[in-house]
Amino acid sequence: MRQIYRPLIIALTASVLLSACEKAPAPTQATVNYSAEQQQLLQQGSLRARSCAACHGPQGISRQALYPSLAGQSAEQLAQAMRDYRDGARKNALMSPQARGLTDADIELLAAFYALLPAPKPKQE
Ligand code: HEC
Repeated sequence: MRQIYRPLIIALTASVLLSACEKAPAPTQATVNYSAEQQQLLQQGSLRARSCAACHGPQGISRQALYPSLAGQSAEQLAQAMRDYRDGARKNALMSPQARGLTDADIELLAAFYALLPAPKPKQE
């Protein structure tokens, strides 16, 4: 008796395992496909942007109107804003001190990082 069922059980187990594998990559809401290079940039950027996250959010999306969201803005625009705060062309009591220590390389990295992040969805109110 047992001998007869064995192939059936093996087949069943295999099909269960297979279907489990097919489901493995859980569908995520954000289906942004980043290249390896972009992923590296995101990793480096998020490390450098740690001090910025308190105000601008870890994903560059701010929760308070006082702090602008940075995600999805053009790198050009972001870099210009950072240089302006650093060099004093643009002044803000909260932001200027943050920009003071940024090197050109920091600004380039941070601008590219925030530009890569998905922009916030328009508010649904
Ligand atoms: C203490 C809170 C705070 C921190 C920390 C902070 N910022 Fe800001 N940031 C602000 C505020 C407030 C503004 C808006 C200032 C204004 O209205 O001019 C701003 C504006 C900016 C802007 C201009 C955005 C726009 O849309 O005009 C950029 C770019 C920016 N911040 C980058 C950074 C980066 C990069 C860091 C980390 C190195 C950082 N900020 C850290 C508060 C902060």
